[in-house]
Amino acid sequence: MQKDQWGYAVTTKNSQAVEALDRAFNGYFHFRTDAIKNLDTAITEDPRFALPHIARGILLESLKKPELHPMAFGELEAAKNARMPASAREIHYLSALEAALAGQVTAAVTHYQQIVNDHPHDLFAMRLAQSELFWIGEVAWMRDISERAAAHWSADVPGYSAYLSIRAFGLEENGDSGPAEKCGREAVEIDPTDCWGAHAVAHVQIMQGRLDDGIAWLTGLKGNWSAANHIVHHLWWHLALFQAERGDYAAALDVYDNRLRDLDSPLMQAMPDFYVDIQNDTALLQRLELRGVEIGDRWAPVANLAKARIGNHCSPFTSAHCALALAASGRFDEARELISRIRDFVAEDKGPLGARYAMAVLPASEAAVAHRMNEHQQVIDVLLPARRNLWQMGGSHAQRDLFLQLLVDSAMKLGRRDILIMLLDEIQALGFDHLTERSSYADAVAMTH
Ligand SMILES: [Fe+2]
Repeated sequence: MQKDQWGYAVTTKNSQAVEALDRAFNGYFHFRTDAIKNLDTAITEDPRFALPHIARGILLESLKKPELHPMAFGELEAAKNARMPASAREIHYLSALEAALAGQVTAAVTHYQQIVNDHPHDLFAMRLAQSELFWIGEVAWMRDISERAAAHWSADVPGYSAYLSIRAFGLEENGDSGPAEKCGREAVEIDPTDCWGAHAVAHVQIMQGRLDDGIAWLTGLKGNWSAANHIVHHLWWHLALFQAERGDYAAALDVYDNRLRDLDSPLMQAMPDFYVDIQNDTALLQRLELRGVEIGDRWAPVANLAKARIGNHCSPFTSAHCALALAASGRFDEARELISRIRDFVAEDKGPLGARYAMAVLPASEAAVAHRMNEHQQVIDVLLPARRNLWQMGGSHAQRDLFLQLLVDSAMKLGRRDILIMLLDEIQALGFDHLTERSSYADAVAMTH
């Protein structure tokens, strides 16, 4: 038995394999591109070491593409045929992969949580739990896992800045802005390349309407992100969000063209269809169009990516964005097919994803199509009763806000001052401050006076 960077036992005698596994885990929770490469090294060093196979399977599944599931099942099989893991922690990872591949995300997370309970420094499990819970809207659960580990953390534990950034985001999505910003800033002070800490602070800033502050924060840090994975696109998306809310649409479009959908960038070349990129792109274009910005032919490539995900029900939040992108391109038949496939999925899936698609994704997707067809009463009829369920599609408050913007836009077009008053109250209650200073809501607020 060897021990990993935190002193936790792993079932191999090969120290090189353990060092490669440490690098892979670090790569994952530091949002770098080298996680899979280092897992490959660990497997080469000791092919019968089960944990790198399991981790590889988990990372493949985390990309939310059913096309990759055969490869992930292959890693599961390889792990089962490898040396029997001797620790409960490794066995929990194996069970988590099995659960994830069966669509049982809450079961997978429960295994990650059990790992963190007994191994509170294991940031691989903690970050996996955060990610999976975030994408099904379970933000209190996500926060609780990182908070309960806090007593075990100090600056001398490997990965402390990454822990702070995970903690920061858990706090932020639960409205605990002050401590969230403190943790996020501390993470970036320790490690200026820490993308997740920078991200948590940007969330505090957008919720509080600190637009200039947010632009200065991200602009000041952008030089540190050269080793980052696709998270860098989401950070640029946050910058564009600040710009769009300020009414600086040209700047936001410039970020879109040169940073979000730069097809020549190595990240895009390596993976042009990453699900968060589809969300980022769709959300920014839709927000700008709601403000009357001409976005030209930018929808078509995004709609092509959305079409490829019509039968993909691994990521509720992404599916709702695919409906938006297809409808925005005028590809209504494909948008309706996406909705029809969601109905089929909801009818057959008895796990945690089916319920979320039913409660949140279906009404959001139907509203997306209706809004694009200028059927604003239909948007109200479908989305207003479902608005308090939208959290179940996952994503952040700042991201899901787009669907509330659609609802507000339809209420404005129908002259429904009563609905606007109710919605704006609720949007403020979610934590959005300074609505009159946001291009998204300033007109709606004016209509209520
Ligand atoms: Fe974000």
